[in-house]
Amino acid sequence: MSKIKMGIIGAGGIAQDRHIPAYLQLTDSVTLEAVCDMNMETAHAVALKFGINKVYAEYKELLSEVDAVTICTPNKFHAEITIAALNAGVHVFCEKPMALNTKECEEMIEAAEQSGKVLAIGYHYRFMKDSRAAKKVIVANEIGKPIVARAQALRRRKVPGWGVFTNKDLQGGGSLIDWGCHFLDLSLWLLGNPKPVEVIGRSYNHLSKMANQVNQWGEINHETFEVDDHVTAYITFENGASMLFETSWAANIKDDIESVSISGLTGGIDLFPFELNQARHGILINSQANWISGEENPGLNQVRNFIETCLGKEELVVKPEEALQVSKIIDAIYLSSETGKSIKLA
Ligand SMILES: NC(=O)c1ccc[n+]([C@@H]2O[C@H](COP(=O)([O-])OP(=O)(O)OC[C@H]3O[C@@H](n4cnc5c(N)ncnc54)[C@H](O)[C@@H]3O)[C@@H](O)[C@H]2O)c1
Repeated sequence: MSKIKMGIIGAGGIAQDRHIPAYLQLTDSVTLEAVCDMNMETAHAVALKFGINKVYAEYKELLSEVDAVTICTPNKFHAEITIAALNAGVHVFCEKPMALNTKECEEMIEAAEQSGKVLAIGYHYRFMKDSRAAKKVIVANEIGKPIVARAQALRRRKVPGWGVFTNKDLQGGGSLIDWGCHFLDLSLWLLGNPKPVEVIGRSYNHLSKMANQVNQWGEINHETFEVDDHVTAYITFENGASMLFETSWAANIKDDIESVSISGLTGGIDLFPFELNQARHGILINSQANWISGEENPGLNQVRNFIETCLGKEELVVKPEEALQVSKIIDAIYLSSETGKSIKLA
């Protein structure tokens, strides 16, 4: 197979802004064969805008037309569509989070194993230049064994007021499952994907539940707001490592923060931007990157890796078993917050 016939399922924001434009750059290895959206108006508009010939309202009808699909529906449908596609012998790129919960993720992995097809999850932060550089120097043992991760994904007042981001039924949660998941995934990857063993977490939404809040990203209805807008957690791992984690769409802080920092036994990494911190020759040295090779477009890099994996030319970077660990931690944070207890992971 020289070119992968791609079907897009869910033709909203991320499909139009990130995935379709990325596939349109990979003309040697992909053809955009079909688009599906339960809203036929959207499906037709997107087909017209990007020159896609086949249009569907029902994803099951699209599966026989393609070699691979990219799933960009709300989180609630990730598992159902992924499993149906894999069972039909179709490779799957599924947007993050992998699914609503651990059980769904496990069912997706089982379907992937049975079908022998590729299942990739859209944790594109791993494909950013700074992240790739950090992984490279950690693998090269520049910081020794990674032992402590600190991850913060904090927005001062940017609750996404459009689409379905604050719909608990469709998305499964708020700031944690939507945005914090990227920082959990990135931190786990940089730590070497150790097995999480215990999680303590707290989730809040007091701020968004109050009337007349200042919000930079559109209107939110405080009366129907039912997802988290601020989450904290402490996670420990089987190999002795631990992580301090915080995410928020609406925090009373000075400014937005996106940072991951990994302390190893002999050095440390800070993101974003990339910095390598070491003690050498009796000197505390902080090294910034002057130039990092490769393209910065993480959306393009992630689907290129998916396509090359489907073609048997590359190894998948975001493995579904790793994305499952992110969902396990998310489930445990929500459960810990609900019960007030620390959660032991089997
Ligand atoms: N990686 C990232 O940083 C990132 C950013 C934004 C969104 N996302 C993820 O992408 C997914 C979609 O988000 P979005 O912002 O594009 O949402 P959106 O609401 O803009 O688009 C979703 C589209 O899916 C369609 N749809 C819903 N159910 C469907 C079904 N069963 N079959 C076919 N079509 C269906 C809707 O009509 C809509 O057009 C979510 O899982 C979200 O978490 C990821």
